[in-house]
Amino acid sequence: MALTIAIPKGRLGNQAIEMLKKAGVGECIDEKSRKLVFKDKKRNINFILLKNSDVITYVENGVADIGISGKDMVMESGGDIYQLYKMNIGKCKMSVAGIKGKKIFKDSTILRVATSFPETAKRYFDSRGQKIKTIQLKGSIELAPILGLSDVIVDLVETGNTLKANGLEVFEDMYQISAVLISNKISYKFKRKEIKEIIELIRREDENGKSN
Ligand code: PRP
Repeated sequence: MALTIAIPKGRLGNQAIEMLKKAGVGECIDEKSRKLVFKDKKRNINFILLKNSDVITYVENGVADIGISGKDMVMESGGDIYQLYKMNIGKCKMSVAGIKGKKIFKDSTILRVATSFPETAKRYFDSRGQKIKTIQLKGSIELAPILGLSDVIVDLVETGNTLKANGLEVFEDMYQISAVLISNKISYKFKRKEIKEIIELIRREDENGKSN
């Protein structure tokens, strides 16, 4: 049975493709081309390249059997999927940040939070009794507090360079993030052997990566 794997494009996708190639799958993917579907005939695997935020949708709806997604997206979507394996790529943190020296969220007013992760932000602040209003943005989140659209942001921080370059700082780290291998429940039932083979290849590559 052919296996379809959803791969995100962009920063995480580049790391994922590099890792898959090292693991011995995905040699057929030409990331420089504009093609979105690649077929590994020998292994009977199809790779589909998607926007990061769409990977879960394709997996959840059964179009892709498995996919590589950031844990951030998984937390935000609450999708009905299995998280099968935590990968050693896409490592960063989800943090609360704001203008350097202006950590203002200790008061009782409603905090304005700009983020692409409104559900995750709501859950996080709810659990500590902080009322918030979320302002959903798709990118360049760091601009929001600078221009007065929000008090703080909830965003991913990897090197911290974007925050620093824009006069912001981390107020609190919320969650450790990495890429996770996800599957829909039906595929995991009927293609378990094929899926486990891929996980094993990735796991071995992760082990190699750690020892190098
Ligand atoms: C992500 C994230 C931060 C930045 C953090 O954005 O939203 O803006 O990376 O990385 P750093 O800590 O290494 O600077 P991305 O580059 O994916 O673009 P976006 O603004 O469109 O979300």
